[in-house]
Amino acid sequence: MAVQQTILVTGGAGFIGSHLIRLLVNKYPNYKIVNLDALTYAGNLENLADIENADNYTFVKGDITDSDFIQELFTLHQFDGVIHLAAESHVDRSIANPMSFIVTNIVGTVNLLNAARHHWKDQYEGKRFYHVSTDEVYGTLGETGLFTEETSYDPRSPYSASKASSDHLVRAYHHTYGLPVVVSNCSNNYGPNQFPEKLLPLFINNIRHNKPLPVYGDGKYTRDWLWVKDHAEAIDVIYHKGKLGDTYNIGGHNEWKNIDIIHLLCDIMDNLLERPKGSSRELITYVKDRPGHDRRYAIDASKLQDELGWVPSLQMEEGLTKTAKWYLDHANWLENVTSGTYQKYYDAQYVDR
Ligand code: NAD
Ligand code: DAU
Repeated sequence: MAVQQTILVTGGAGFIGSHLIRLLVNKYPNYKIVNLDALTYAGNLENLADIENADNYTFVKGDITDSDFIQELFTLHQFDGVIHLAAESHVDRSIANPMSFIVTNIVGTVNLLNAARHHWKDQYEGKRFYHVSTDEVYGTLGETGLFTEETSYDPRSPYSASKASSDHLVRAYHHTYGLPVVVSNCSNNYGPNQFPEKLLPLFINNIRHNKPLPVYGDGKYTRDWLWVKDHAEAIDVIYHKGKLGDTYNIGGHNEWKNIDIIHLLCDIMDNLLERPKGSSRELITYVKDRPGHDRRYAIDASKLQDELGWVPSLQMEEGLTKTAKWYLDHANWLENVTSGTYQKYYDAQYVDR
């Protein structure tokens, strides 16, 4: 059995964080898992209803940008490890409102680094600060090539620039103060509980309501998709076995042009909703492109496979069918998160685009 420890997970009420918390709480009954989340529009405790009463789980509502509060939390819980996911995560929102990305993703990360450094007082044995980041920090690829851990950073949206900045700061705390850090950069996740502002849940929800499917630009942008539970498994492996000071790329070896994955999703939805074949594809509407839209992302995850033995588990057709089914079976979840303020965002983002 793994040695008892207390881990702070930030952003655990969000999409990836909630899958990670469930995995840790169930797999390590002797760990104490503290979930710190500000419950922004993207945070939802409904995501964790099945484990909220577990003995080894505590939820704390709080903001990583509040440095005094973070210091107090470290004093209270004496964390052995941090797995940091809390962030503003949607590229389109970063284009509309960059400042909240700077404050949460950069200042919030530095607050956590400072608290870890202060409380661990250079006694780093058994301690670990894991920063969860994105492949978007590497910029954009042409038709060929893959991002490796050696690829130079070239972020091109306020979101990716804020994540790149936080990655640099995490590594700087390792080099300057010896903080025991590890970083991972992952490709696009998909699966249950993703807020329906991101491509796949947005399109699933729009198909349910027979609303247009807004495809940016020519639709030939490429992303490398990963089943969210595979990302959670990878984080578990890297947290426990990753080499301190190192970076690991995580990806699905699963590149799709947007329009191809949208066609696949439309066909799956027609099937599940028992609508005539081809009816969802009729909702596809090409709209003005996202400014600064990165053309292609693709990850070389061979370091993670070779050194730590992690491989993705699911093929896209199976994962996308599971995903579509989950949203159809959880219509209440979708209704709850898309009411109110989300509707205002949707109108500002898509009406007259
Ligand atoms: P998400 O937007 O679904 O969840 C983010 C969570 O952070 C929410 O629960 C939110 O309430 C919380 N949060 C936001 N600001 C906070 C603050 N100031 N203090 C405390 N909590 C706050 O995001 P996600 O898609 O689950 O992404 C999680 C992490 O993984 C992010 O760091 C993101 O950059 C990274 N990532 C995401 C993907 C992806 O495809 N979604 C891929 C690679 C990396
Ligand atoms: O690569 C990892 C990143 O993946 C994460 O770091 C981000 O947090 C996550 O949001 C995601 O970023 P993307 O910008 O790739 O994801 P998004 O779902 O917003 O868009 C996926 C692709 O679909 C992208 O090429 C833009 C396009 N798109 C998106 C939306 C929301 C559309 O064509 N129409 C849309 O309405």
